[in-house]
Amino acid sequence: MKILLVNGPSLSLLGTREPSIYGTQTLAQIVEGTARYAASKGVQVDALQSDAEGDIAHALCAARGAYAGVIINPAAYTHTSVAIRDAIAACGLPVVEVHLSNTHRREAFRHASLTAPVCVGQIMGFGAAGYLLAVDALLNVMKTENG
Ligand code: DQA
Repeated sequence: MKILLVNGPSLSLLGTREPSIYGTQTLAQIVEGTARYAASKGVQVDALQSDAEGDIAHALCAARGAYAGVIINPAAYTHTSVAIRDAIAACGLPVVEVHLSNTHRREAFRHASLTAPVCVGQIMGFGAAGYLLAVDALLNVMKTENG
């Protein structure tokens, strides 16, 4: 079974980007940790990071039929992107939204997520551990959906 892990804009700078908010792990470390954890559960992870809204929407649409589910941190697009929201809804897959920070404790413009309502659920505020929680959440949803 394969899942797709999508990381949005500026997450390529994790490790040095505002570490007091996002932690000190690099994106490569987070992806590797997520893939290792998923592999221990028999699941393969393909990962992509893009700063481009269209690339992310395209990857979500292409995931249909190729993946069993998606974990996504849409980063700033969470708060702005109808295109990514529509692609999540269109892909027909269970999608779990992850944020490193608890966006509700931050600026008001981060409190709304356009993408969360079309995801099966959202995990935030637990730093890099949130990605591992998302693997468990996705597996749980898939188990429930497939009996
Ligand atoms: C983020 C939260 C967003 O508000 C922000 O734009 C990000 C990262 C997080 O993981 O906490 O880039 O998605």
